[in-house]
Parts: sequence; structure tokens; C-alpha cells
Amino acid sequence: MRAINLNGFGGPEVMVWTEAPDPAPGHGEVLIDVLAAGVNRADLLQRQGFYPPPPGASPIMGLECSGVVAEVGDGVRDWRVGDRVCALLSGGGYAERVVVPATQLLPVPDGLDLAAAAGLPEAAATVWSNLVMTAGLHAGQLLLIHGGGSGIGTHAIQIAKSLGARVAATAGSAEKLRRCAELGAEVLINYREDDFVEAVRAQGPGADVILDVMGAAYLARNVDALAPHGHLVVIGMQGGASGELNLGALLRKWGSIHATNVRNRPATGTGSKAEIIAELRGRVWPLIADGRVVPVIDAEIPVADAAEAHRLLDASGAFGKVVLRIRDE
Ligand SMILES: NC(=O)c1ccc[n+]([C@@H]2O[C@H](COP(=O)([O-])OP(=O)(O)OC[C@H]3O[C@@H](n4cnc5c(N)ncnc54)[C@H](OP(=O)(O)O)[C@@H]3O)[C@@H](O)[C@H]2O)c1
Repeated sequence: MRAINLNGFGGPEVMVWTEAPDPAPGHGEVLIDVLAAGVNRADLLQRQGFYPPPPGASPIMGLECSGVVAEVGDGVRDWRVGDRVCALLSGGGYAERVVVPATQLLPVPDGLDLAAAAGLPEAAATVWSNLVMTAGLHAGQLLLIHGGGSGIGTHAIQIAKSLGARVAATAGSAEKLRRCAELGAEVLINYREDDFVEAVRAQGPGADVILDVMGAAYLARNVDALAPHGHLVVIGMQGGASGELNLGALLRKWGSIHATNVRNRPATGTGSKAEIIAELRGRVWPLIADGRVVPVIDAEIPVADAAEAHRLLDASGAFGKVVLRIRDE
């Protein structure tokens, strides 16, 4: 098969579309003929050598894909050759074929084309596991999303609205904020001009849940913006990993801070990818099927031009997801 291999670590130009060994499904695994793969910020870090794949995962980039089941391994009962699927991967999506545990497959939601489905699993798993399974977001609460225009943010806004929560979102431009509002965000904060703590406090006691991608740079202000009993969930460290935490400020609000990732979770068991996928199928896939949550795809780029896709994400040029087209349907 062909895949995006790395010519060393570095800029987008190190990615080359060349031959790679064909994967074969083992027990409980499925082989997918990949049609499209979602691009995630984590891929940019992996390309630079800062985010190695977990032990046992494919060294090829790509945390999500869509395609058609080409082969099923021993012990797989729920999927058949020819099924149209999308999958949460620990790696390997930037390729013509990928192997994945059957427990990480989802059907392509009704009415969705395969390319759009490629951008769903990673955002859906990250958003649901953090907002609902970790922070318990529910109707009437205020959620602050940093990076409302990201692949994660555009999905999170819609999920929060479907739960009946109110959404405040930060973004770096008026145009991205306008589009966040179209998706349902009510409090719009330009992080280059406005103070998000003030903006959130103007709404009441603060944010019940904060979905953070900035890490250290926003730690103190995120704690300031939390409502009593609030949950700060850190999923990205774009502003650094080590910050200073005023425990007194957190304690006075009975607040909690969580930091999680999807990729390093075990395949099965407590807190696993399989657990999240089962929740997505039961709770989120119906929302997508009835159009309450729609995938926001900014660009679909041929895989041979993967460098262009990475440059787009790097320059904050996309609203929503960028998808690599691996083959025609
Ligand atoms: N822990 C996990 O399991 C997990 C899983 C998936 C993603 N993530 C993380 O989630 C984040 C989004 O991922 P993605 O793939 O959707 O990436 P993306 O589309 O490239 O989004 C990056 C976002 O960061 C925002 N941003 C940059 N500087 C900011 C600032 N000072 N204040 C607020 N927002 C700022 C950007 O906003 P503008 O474009 O408006 O400037 C953009 O929306 C990344 O940090 C990623 O590492 C974590």
C-alpha cells in the first residue's frame, strides 16, 4: 500500500506519499480500505517528533479515518467485509489501509458521505469523553470552549447545545466567532482583544465547564473564570505544559481540574476507547443522523498534498476539520 511516511522529523515537507508495508488484521481487528483521514493538531506534533505514537501503535500519522471494511480478523462478529465505517485510531490513518480493533469502529451515520465521516471520530470521542463522561456537562450550565473554531470546538459547540447547555467560545477572529455563533455559541470572545474571564463573569458566577487547549498560558485565568463546583478540562497544551496553580483560588470554588487524552487510553476496559465509542454510538450518532450535530469540514485535500493540509492547520486557516482524501469512492 501507499502511506504518508516521514523523511525525518520537521516541517510539512518531510511528509512523502510512498510505499509502506501492508497491515494485516489480528484477533479482534478489522482491516479498512481507507477513503479519507481526518487531520488533527496532534499530527503536526507527531510530524515534528514531539508526539510519538503509543507502544504498539502504527508509526504512520492519522488518528481517524473513514472507509470500507476489507477484511475481518478472528473473533470479529459485528462487522462484515463491505461495511462503510469510520474509526478512531491510535495511528495509521494517512494510508491506503489501516488495521484497528473492531471496538473502535462506528458505522457511517445515515445521510453522511464517507469523506465527512473521516473527520468525526477523534473530535466526537474527545468532546464526549471530556464534556460529558468527565465533566458531566448538562442542561442549563455554561460551557467555555477555547478555540471554538477548531475541529474540536465546532463539534463541542453543537454537542453542548444539544444537551441544553449555553456556550461561550473564544476564537482569534471576528469571522470565526460569527461562524461559532451560527453553530449555537452565545457568548463570543475574541481572544486577541477581549478578556475571557470578564466575558464569562458577565454571564453570572462563571463557567461550569471549561474545555481548554492552551494549558499553562490560561491556567490561572481559567481558574478565575470557573463557577463554583466548576470543572476545568485541559485537552491541549498549545500555551505550555508547566504553569503555576493557585490552589487557594481553586479550593474556594470547590473546583476540579482534569487533563486527559484519547490516544493513550487502553483499547478496552475502564476509561477505554471502546467505552467511549459505545457511548458515541448510543448518544452522539443519533444526533448526527437527525442533523442536530453536523460535521464541519473546511477542506478536503488530496493526500499527496498533505503538506498543504498541515500548513492550513498551522496557520489557523481552517474553521472546523481538514480531511485528507486517500482514494475516490
Ligand atoms: N487530549 C486529547 O485527547 C485531544 C484530542 C484532540 C485534540 N486535542 C487538542 O485540542 C486542540 C484542538 O485540536 P484540533 O485538531 O481541533 O486543532 P485546530 O483545529 O488546529 O485548533 C487549534 C485551535 O486553537 C485555538 N487557539 C490558538 N491560540 C489560542 C488562544 N490564545 N486562545 C484560545 N484559542 C486559541 C485556535 O483558534 P483560532 O484558529 O481562532 O486562532 C484553534 O481553534 C489542540 O490543542 C489539540 O491538541 C486534544
